[in-house]
Amino acid sequence: MHLQKTTLPLLLLCLSCAAWAQTGITLRQAAQGKFHVGVAINTSQIEAADAKEDRIITQQFDSISPENALKWERLHAKPGVYDFALADRYVDYGTKHHLYTVGHTLVWHSQVPDWVFESTPGKPITRAALLERLHDHIFAVVGRYKGRIQAWDVVNEALNDDGSLRDSKWRQILGDDYIVQAFRWAQEADPQAELGYNDYSLENPKKLAGAIAIVKKLQTAGVKISYVGIQGHDHLDWPSNSDETQTIEAFARLGVKVAITELDIDVLPSAWGHSADVSLKHTADAKLNPYPKALPEDVSRQLTQRYADLFRIYAEHRQSVERVTLWGLSDRDSWLNNWPVVGRTSYPLLFDRKGDPKPALLAVEDVLQK
Ligand code: G3I
Repeated sequence: MHLQKTTLPLLLLCLSCAAWAQTGITLRQAAQGKFHVGVAINTSQIEAADAKEDRIITQQFDSISPENALKWERLHAKPGVYDFALADRYVDYGTKHHLYTVGHTLVWHSQVPDWVFESTPGKPITRAALLERLHDHIFAVVGRYKGRIQAWDVVNEALNDDGSLRDSKWRQILGDDYIVQAFRWAQEADPQAELGYNDYSLENPKKLAGAIAIVKKLQTAGVKISYVGIQGHDHLDWPSNSDETQTIEAFARLGVKVAITELDIDVLPSAWGHSADVSLKHTADAKLNPYPKALPEDVSRQLTQRYADLFRIYAEHRQSVERVTLWGLSDRDSWLNNWPVVGRTSYPLLFDRKGDPKPALLAVEDVLQK
């Protein structure tokens, strides 16, 4: 369906009528031929516990990411002991429904148990021993799902906001080359998988420069990097359309694909800038939770417009953008209800708290069909 600009507001007004949306085209149909549209799923969604959610995931999306199920602390909480039970169910879900299945993530500074960096409790491990642990983890996990996980976020959030390398324990113990090493082993463990570097705030010029340096370093070393994951934890006022465009084009010039890996758009006030650093915490305050009951119409319109603008940019760059993944199915699921302030009512996604489509969904579908 092609809508005139003038008809869009009228359409949006009638959109609480979910019935209309349900008879319309699905998101994955609208995006067909352009890029994959994905959703990060949580434990109950992996287990298909709710029939309505299960229907939305399989009808609207053609790709999944594990919100938490494949992080180090979930798979490998104790030395030498792997728990693949939930990860297996996640991958089975992707296989059963023929979904482009993403692995997230192999190397991150967060959600890694302390033992990984210690020889005995409290005593730092040697470089050689940590390399061995990283090698074993990558081969155990990537190897197990070889051919069934199509893309891996190999390294996640290795950069500071100023574009320098984050001084994580990985870097402190292994040196700057840990990134190249992780990609090399991931490539060996599954030569067919697409391998990516994933980070937030890449639209900021300094951080973008840091990510470009990582890509070039991998390319110079002759190690495969298939895509850069622009996480896309966005706000109503950030990043600008031109920043988003320039960021995608900067990576395209390097010959790598772009995946928008964790898209959500925060409509709530922020007292901490635009960072998506998971370690941020902020004290609760009623002023920071202005819409506890419902999203006002004017803010809903801004959100809709923002989603439409971003998807227009992604669609214009379909040669480079190979996937756009929403970080959660419905507003009820979003991490933004509890970060960096616990207990807020957040509205960042395409489905509302009841799992009904929001006006933004139809606006996105409309953009994708143009
Ligand atoms: O499952 C436990 C539950 O048993 C326990 O009672 C509860 C009490 O705190 O915690 C639950 O685990 C939480 C988990 O989310 C599931 O809700 C963890 O504490 C919490 O730390 C975890 O947060 C996740 C965060 O990464 C840290 O791993 C978010 O769900 C997840 O959305 C977020 O995702 C990250 C990406 O991986 C990387 N990029 C940024 C993005 C957003 O922070």
